[in-house]
Amino acid sequence: MARFENIAKLLAKDRPGYTLPRDLYVGEEAYAFDTQVMLKRVWLYACTVAHIKKPGDWFLFELANNSIIIVRGRDGQVRAFYNSCRHRGAKLCEAQKGRAPRLMCPYHQWTYGLDGRLLAARGMADDFDKADFPLTPVALENIGGLIFICMSDDPPPIDRVKADIEAQIAMYDLEKCKVAVQDDLIEHANWKLVMENNRECYHCDNNHPELLACLGNSGFGKGLPEDVAPGVIDDTAEAIAAQREEWKRLGIYHDLIEFPGNWWHRIARLPLANGAVSQTLDGKVASTKLLGPFTEPDTSSLSIWTQPNSWHHFCCDHVVTFSLTPLSPDRTLLRTSWLVREDAEEGVDYDPANLAAVWRATNGQDGYLSALNHAGIVTDGYRPGPYSLEEKLVEYFKNFYADNARKALAEAE
Ligand code: FES
Ligand code: FE
Repeated sequence: MARFENIAKLLAKDRPGYTLPRDLYVGEEAYAFDTQVMLKRVWLYACTVAHIKKPGDWFLFELANNSIIIVRGRDGQVRAFYNSCRHRGAKLCEAQKGRAPRLMCPYHQWTYGLDGRLLAARGMADDFDKADFPLTPVALENIGGLIFICMSDDPPPIDRVKADIEAQIAMYDLEKCKVAVQDDLIEHANWKLVMENNRECYHCDNNHPELLACLGNSGFGKGLPEDVAPGVIDDTAEAIAAQREEWKRLGIYHDLIEFPGNWWHRIARLPLANGAVSQTLDGKVASTKLLGPFTEPDTSSLSIWTQPNSWHHFCCDHVVTFSLTPLSPDRTLLRTSWLVREDAEEGVDYDPANLAAVWRATNGQDGYLSALNHAGIVTDGYRPGPYSLEEKLVEYFKNFYADNARKALAEAE
């Protein structure tokens, strides 16, 4: 791919165990490559079914020039379409989200059903057939209520990710949840640095007092006790061993799934720290209406990480999900959504500020750290640096990126 000649050269310099060459993080060409090639050929996390709860609810997922409408049909199905009218191409939906019985183009009012079929177009020739002009679909998978999209005509396999994640999150019943809070945070760092920062807790001890009050840092970057790298001190091993029996009794225990083979998901149930039953400042539930099968507060949370743009935490009373999209070489949108049971009442069963407090503080701290990372990488003094023993998940992410980038370049040749 002549246009991305330098990307191939930079990838050739990538060393196992080390961070990427500078211009793969911060260069304009890498941004164009990521948004026009690499990220279009993988599955991306967009939102949950709770973001489009009722028929006619729609939600936009946007990546560089591409805008995708995710919409709930009258049949309850969730579908995705490019946000471009089949008449002369205007953008159909402008706001970030909305609700409508049909999708009507603001330009000349061509009108589409929630299933993408063209229903009305004024003043067309007699031989015009509306059936020839439906909205252009985008591949979509609903994984236990988490919505993933892929802009490729030939999306990569997703079946194992779907089976593994569904098996563990079905019990939280996201169809019966609502979005209580959504934060859109613009981080001043390249998207890959925001992801790398998410994939380790090497930085947690000195930076995340709110998070560490309710969450141990072991499972996040260091791995679980059975696969903790030699030399890494693990303080939650005993807690996990003790709780595993209880999780088995509750029927919620599954072994750790950690980016198996060429797959792109990690799933871990981890004990909360200090007797917490939710990811909150005081460790107490944020919403008194518990999710799924829970009749009592539970002292664990289930976490899911997917490559290349999401992570999620499922507590007994709420769910918090994170989707990340690049906005420019040095800006990234981190969208965080907190979900509670649909019948939980704001001000009665939950306080939105309390619900969001831990991750809002943590996101702010991580935004600062990622910006600091970016600001140092743009200096001429940057050289790729070695990952620590506690950063193996960072390297998994980097390898996912580099492998998919190489594949994309090879296929384009
Ligand atoms: Fe949409 Fe004309 S561009 S109706
Ligand atoms: Fe962090």
